[in-house]
Amino acid sequence: MASTAPIQPSKLTSIKKLSESPNLNSIPSNYAYYNDPHDICASEPPDSIPTIDISLLTSGNPDHKSKAIQDLNKACEEWGFFMVINHGIPESLMKAMLEVTSEFFNLPEEEKPKFEPKDVLEPIRYGTSFNTAKEKVFCWRDFLKVFVHPEFHSPHKPNALRELLLEYRERTQNLVRKLARGISESLGLEEYEMEKTLNLNSSLQIFIANYYPPCPQPQLALGMPPHSDHGLFTLLIENQVGGLQIQHKGEWLNVNPLPNSILVNTGDHLEIFSNGKYKSVLHRAAVNNKNTRISIAMANGPSPDTIVCPASKLVDNEGCVPAYIPMKYTEYLFSQQNNLLNGKSILDRVKIKDN
Ligand code: OGA
Ligand code: NI
Repeated sequence: MASTAPIQPSKLTSIKKLSESPNLNSIPSNYAYYNDPHDICASEPPDSIPTIDISLLTSGNPDHKSKAIQDLNKACEEWGFFMVINHGIPESLMKAMLEVTSEFFNLPEEEKPKFEPKDVLEPIRYGTSFNTAKEKVFCWRDFLKVFVHPEFHSPHKPNALRELLLEYRERTQNLVRKLARGISESLGLEEYEMEKTLNLNSSLQIFIANYYPPCPQPQLALGMPPHSDHGLFTLLIENQVGGLQIQHKGEWLNVNPLPNSILVNTGDHLEIFSNGKYKSVLHRAAVNNKNTRISIAMANGPSPDTIVCPASKLVDNEGCVPAYIPMKYTEYLFSQQNNLLNGKSILDRVKIKDN
C-alpha cells in the first residue's frame, strides 16, 4: 500500500520534482489510483494491432487505394486504434521532437511557462496531472499543451522548439488530411466531405507533451487514467519506453508500437461525426519504476467554432436518427478539460440516450 502521507494540493509540484526527491520509496497516498495491483494489469494483444500503410491511399493504383480504405474501415470499426507506416514524417524529425521535449522538461522552472495557469483553454499550458483544481487523486504525469493551429503558439525555450513545432505541425497536418480523406471514403462519404464539413483548413491542433518519470510503486499509480480523446484523431509518438494501454473488447492491452510508426487513436468527434459507427477508444498510460517515458500526442480536431453533429448523409442515407446532440467543438473541449478525466463521461453528455 502507499504509505506516504498525501500531498496537500497547495504543495503540489511537478511530478518530475517529486520523483527526484531523495529516498522516495512509496507514493503519496493521493497518487494511488488503484488499491489492487491487478487493476493495472494488461495483456499482450492476441491479434496484432492493425497497421495501415498510408502511402497506399495516394499511390495512384485504385486497388491499393481501396485496400487501404477497407483497412481503415476495419481498424476504425474494430479497434479505434492503429499504427501508421509510410506516413511521411521523417524519423529524424520524430527523434528531434522527442529530444526537444525532454529538454523542455529539463529546463530550470524559471525558464518554463508559468506552472498550471487557471484557464484550461490557454494556448500554452504547463502543469501536472490533468486538472488539479478538480482532482482528488493525481496522475504521475507532467504536461505541456500548446495550441499550434489555426493560430501558432510556442514557448520561447528551448530555442529549437519553435522551428521544430512548425515543421511537425506541417507534416502531421499532411497525414491528418490523408486520414480524413480515407476515413471519409471508408464511411461511404465523398473524399473531401469530412474536411469540408468540419473545416479542417482551420482545424484545432494541440501539441501535448507528456512526461512520466520513474515511479516507486508503478502498480498503484497511473500516468493518465482511462479516457478517450476529444478530437478526431490523435497522433502519438513515444520514446520507446512503453506504457500506453488501450481497451479492446473489454480488455486492457499493452501497446508496443513498431519503431518509427505513428500511433493513431480515434477521438470523440470522429464518433460523433460517424454517428457512432467509429467509436472513440479508451486508453490510459501506465508508469514504471525504471525509465522516464516521454510521449507526444498531437490532437487534431475540427475548427474551434464548428458545431459538430453526425454527418447528414450518414443519417439520411441509412435511415438512422442522429445519435448525438450538436455541440460547438470548443465548448466540448472546455468541458473535457475543465472536468475530471473520466472515461467517456463528456461524450455521454451529448449522446442521445434512446438510440
Ligand atoms: C493523451 C494520452 C497517452 C500516452 O495525451 O491524451 O492519452 O501514452 N497519452 O502518453
Ligand atoms: Ni489520450
